[in-house]
Amino acid sequence: MRMVDIIAKKRNGESLDEKEIAFFIENYMAGVIPDYQVSALMMAIYYQGMSQEETAYLTKHMVASGDIIDLSPIKGHKVDKHSTGGVGDKTTFIVGPLVAAAGLPVAKMSGRGLGHTGGTIDKLESIPGFRVELSNQQFIDNVNTYKLAVVGQTGNLAPADKKLYALRDVTATVDSLPLIASSIMSKKIASGADSIILDVKTGSGAFMKTLENSKKLAEEMVTIGKQLNRNTIAVISDMNQPLGFEIGNASEVKEAVEILQGKRIDDLRELAIELAAHMTIVAGVYSDYVEATSSLNELIDNGEALKCFKNFVKAQNGDVSVIEDLTKLPTSQYKIPVKAEQQGYIHEMEADQIGIAAMHLGAGRATKEDKINHGVGITLKKKIGDFVNAGDTIAILNSDQQQVDEIASIVKDAYTIKEEKANKRKMIYEVIK
Ligand code: URA
Repeated sequence: MRMVDIIAKKRNGESLDEKEIAFFIENYMAGVIPDYQVSALMMAIYYQGMSQEETAYLTKHMVASGDIIDLSPIKGHKVDKHSTGGVGDKTTFIVGPLVAAAGLPVAKMSGRGLGHTGGTIDKLESIPGFRVELSNQQFIDNVNTYKLAVVGQTGNLAPADKKLYALRDVTATVDSLPLIASSIMSKKIASGADSIILDVKTGSGAFMKTLENSKKLAEEMVTIGKQLNRNTIAVISDMNQPLGFEIGNASEVKEAVEILQGKRIDDLRELAIELAAHMTIVAGVYSDYVEATSSLNELIDNGEALKCFKNFVKAQNGDVSVIEDLTKLPTSQYKIPVKAEQQGYIHEMEADQIGIAAMHLGAGRATKEDKINHGVGITLKKKIGDFVNAGDTIAILNSDQQQVDEIASIVKDAYTIKEEKANKRKMIYEVIK
């Protein structure tokens, strides 16, 4: 077999068979096939696409390129939740303890933030003392005892994806549906769960800006999951504005805890309940959607989910007193209001720009090496559908620098205000099974 023939076959719009896909992955990883040939193949895939079968084979062989986490010492059905990334997304801190309270074991590996999206691991580290590194045994023991553990990605999961992603990044081939779907699913499948619930974001702060493309990505990932024997469900959710009101690290933990305390009912609680419902139904904890949503709401209202969150924090060495008194979480030195220049209704928000503004304040990373400031971020005061008068505060910059005019402009420009009335956005668009 020769790589040049595989490239030509894909260039001509033909399908690759499993042997050809295995050949290219194995030899690329072995350093036998050079980057320039794989770049050409990625570009051919970008233009010609891949069938569902090819995409599943590609995923399978990216999984096989590294470790596969063995979660079998954890009792019960293991369900993972994965979000395709957004701004202000702190659902893991609600969904994790919530399904744990329902009796489902949650063994979660999460990543750090980069660019306009934040990372679960960075956010957890805003809790003083919290350890995101546990030995394998400790991870398993914590899940068996407390039903919930979250650690940073360890091991050598899908290294072929890592190598391919770095190449796609510099060859303008990231934006290919089968390549994105296989990339995400290879890491999820290698993480070892029995079932996978995907939160596919759509809108201005999402990887996929249109509902049509988000739906295609969701369908592609659900198909891959099924072909590789994982029960997979995708929820398509709105990311045309940040989720909740807080964007940052400590402030997102705070907002999630407030939801667990039952204090606020908004888009965030709706999405968390939706995701938790599919996780618990797929695992057989509840028999249908009505039972699941009413039981899960009850687990928030009776404080059981919050209790699980506290146990989880304590088990990973975090200071639980900050959860009991949220004012003890890191915060910023200055609170700088961003004001509306005109009266009207908020029609649109460029969520990715708000994520970028939070990153400039220090809440996120522009490059992998950047350090996070856990206390800074943005608090939204107004969201789509709200009415504002000129001079009203639409957002607050939680900053450690006093001079942040440019960042304030990014936030102000991210809002579109018009005279005519605007509707609130809906949260859940579709569920794909
Ligand atoms: N996220 C991933 O993990 N992979 C992609 O290809 C795109 C987004």
